[in-house]
Amino acid sequence: MDLFEYHDGHLWCEAVPVRDLAARYGTPLYVYSAGTLAAHYHRMQQAFAELQPLICYSVKCCSNVHILRRLAALGSGFDVVSGGELYRALRAGADPAHVVFAGVGKTAREMREALEAGVGLLNVESASELEALAAVAAEVGVRAEAALRVIPEVDARTHAYTTTGTRANKFGLPFEQAAELVRAFAGSPHVHIRGLHLHIGSPVYDPQAYAVSIGRALELLDRLADAGLALDTLDIGGGYGAHYKGHESPAATDYAAAIVPLLRDRNLRVILEPGRSIAANAGVLVTRVLHTKETGCRRFVIVDAAMTELIRPALYSAYHFIWPVEAGERVPRDWTPAQPLDGLVTVDLVGPVCESGDFLAQDRPLPPLRPGDLVAVFTAGAYGMAMASQYNSRPRPAEVLVEQGAARLIRRRETYADLLRAEDDLDA
Ligand code: LLP
Repeated sequence: MDLFEYHDGHLWCEAVPVRDLAARYGTPLYVYSAGTLAAHYHRMQQAFAELQPLICYSVKCCSNVHILRRLAALGSGFDVVSGGELYRALRAGADPAHVVFAGVGKTAREMREALEAGVGLLNVESASELEALAAVAAEVGVRAEAALRVIPEVDARTHAYTTTGTRANKFGLPFEQAAELVRAFAGSPHVHIRGLHLHIGSPVYDPQAYAVSIGRALELLDRLADAGLALDTLDIGGGYGAHYKGHESPAATDYAAAIVPLLRDRNLRVILEPGRSIAANAGVLVTRVLHTKETGCRRFVIVDAAMTELIRPALYSAYHFIWPVEAGERVPRDWTPAQPLDGLVTVDLVGPVCESGDFLAQDRPLPPLRPGDLVAVFTAGAYGMAMASQYNSRPRPAEVLVEQGAARLIRRRETYADLLRAEDDLDA
């Protein structure tokens, strides 16, 4: 699952004690394990090897350029959703032909940047966007390689904010509209519609949800082929799960078991866009207890990380396993609240931000915590730092990558001066 393990009551990241990292770099601190990142990338690659897919790591989940460089070196492509993510991927040494560009609202500038860079595929989500892409491609003097994101009408049974496969969500096109666009743009000198794109939500813990949506996309591809409009690419998106509580996520091989049989004889170029399944378990957020207090109805543990460092609990009521870095003799990585442990105290773990929604955990049984104690929030490698903000004018935390026995700072802690960087040189 990951290379964050307790030995003799201390949390280690690979061969480095997390306590030492907190002492050296301060808290709150994101700590990533390069070995875990690589292991999860390889698991995805091996599980789907029969399809020889292009794996495009989803940059949005953890976009530090040094992490992207490690993945590029492993041969990963990249799924980007903005000009900024494209910039990061290119700075990381990505092969532009192995970059796919998604998103419902690409601007003309972003389209131009993607086309000038030679991005391999633009995933288009509306007729209006396709027309705009054709116009920009004409200006740039290239033929854009595109896929149409379709709505497979599959409810992935994930959080309402991250469900994307139904007509009630802003993403994608109904099948009949997509078919119409493939017909209308056949032979266009400016856009080459090569395939279909699916992404039904994230995280999706039911591999069958992929099977159903891919099955529907294949029916559409067959109908188009029968009409002389054969496409050669199917991008099946991301959303593969991670372990937030124990070992609850299907393995890469479970997803592959549901998906590969549908695609093995199809002669399609298959693209996958995993983010969380690669990065989530490869990162922890380390935070220090500042204060504790009781209000008569709740016990609060106030730590130096907040919704500004990890917004998932506040935004999606997401559960992250949390445990002291110096855990004594307990090694509870697989512990869940269903298994009672002695000596725990039920607390709300909250941050310093001025919002009652600022919590990392509510009603959580934890060993007694005192000011100064270090706490690790696990499975924070995806949608953690990438969604961090400076709200309440909190400088964003540092990020450290542990690799082959050594820790490297991959993002320095922001300073107060960083907070004003885009403001204070303006004569306003
Ligand atoms: N491809 C597309 C088109 C996507 O929209 C996403 C995620 C992915 C791939 C990668 O999904 P992953 O494999 O990482 O689950 N902030 C939320 C997740 C939002 C996901 C948005 N799109 C969270 O913290 O759970």
